[in-house]
Amino acid sequence: MKNILITGCSSGIGKHCALELSRQGWQVFATARKDEDLRMLQDNGLEAIYLDYTDTKSIHSCFKTVMKKTDGKLDALFNNGAYGQPGAVEDLTTDVLRKQFETNFFGWHELTNLVLPVMRKQGHGRIIHCSSILGWVSAPWRGAYNASKFALEGLASAMRLELEDTSIFVSLIEPGPIKTDFPKNALNAFLDNIDQQNTQHKERYEQELKRLNSGGGDNKFRLEPEAVYKKLDHALNAKKPKAHYGVTLITHIMDVSRRLLPTRIVDIMLLKNNS
Ligand SMILES: NC(=O)c1ccc[n+]([C@@H]2O[C@H](COP(=O)([O-])OP(=O)(O)OC[C@H]3O[C@@H](n4cnc5c(N)ncnc54)[C@H](OP(=O)(O)O)[C@@H]3O)[C@@H](O)[C@H]2O)c1
Repeated sequence: MKNILITGCSSGIGKHCALELSRQGWQVFATARKDEDLRMLQDNGLEAIYLDYTDTKSIHSCFKTVMKKTDGKLDALFNNGAYGQPGAVEDLTTDVLRKQFETNFFGWHELTNLVLPVMRKQGHGRIIHCSSILGWVSAPWRGAYNASKFALEGLASAMRLELEDTSIFVSLIEPGPIKTDFPKNALNAFLDNIDQQNTQHKERYEQELKRLNSGGGDNKFRLEPEAVYKKLDHALNAKKPKAHYGVTLITHIMDVSRRLLPTRIVDIMLLKNNS
């Protein structure tokens, strides 16, 4: 039986992919942070493990648990757990930005570096990261999240090249809007970390609160987590997995636009999409 470690399985993409891979016969190690989520994963037949990317000890202890249960082998890692910190760049404190990076970037690197020697030893492996269209293009009010996903794109792409002569493949999945708890969790990060009174962006923030409160607002491009699962399935099973997997039409539109159009035009598109 093949095995995979997936992070951030309390909801959304991680939960859907963990359950689906388990149905497909994989041994799934699914991480979460809250007791009730760990119980829910266990009740669904998954190996549930606590992991918080901001806590190095939990990353090491999760890895150790997996190694014990698999005799030191791991076929695949899906780095997925993350959150979006909204707010204008000028309203982000360095600590808030640092926390975004601890979760979305440093934790992913730490876990990947634990897993890689295992894959090298066994001679094969798949490392898949859930990035975002916002790792390709920047949007206003998303600077912290953009920065974390751009950093991930750079690091993962370098690793892909470094592993070119091995049978370990690194892939990035680039979703656009997907129906998950992402807006709810972004709303919490917004309320917790951004001063909405002492800001140049008060009006804009009122709109943003409305959008996040309504689950991300109307978005004709939004897809179910299954759309991400289909790409994950390819990245796990294809003989030659792709380096990048775009998900949703808007991801493909923005990818072509950023390559072909002048920045001025792409900026107009991004501002219109975020007004
Ligand atoms: N939904 C979208 O539109 C969209 C678009 C592009 C990319 N993505 C990417 O898709 C991935 C999954 O997000 P989602 O849409 O499924 O959102 P979600 O429903 O909010 O799920 C996010 C998961 O990440 C976990 N997480 C948050 N902080 C963590 C930490 N410090 N350590 C470990 N896990 C943590 C959450 O756990 P808790 O429940 O404990 O907070 C949750 O399980 C993310 O990498 C996100 O950047 C999402």
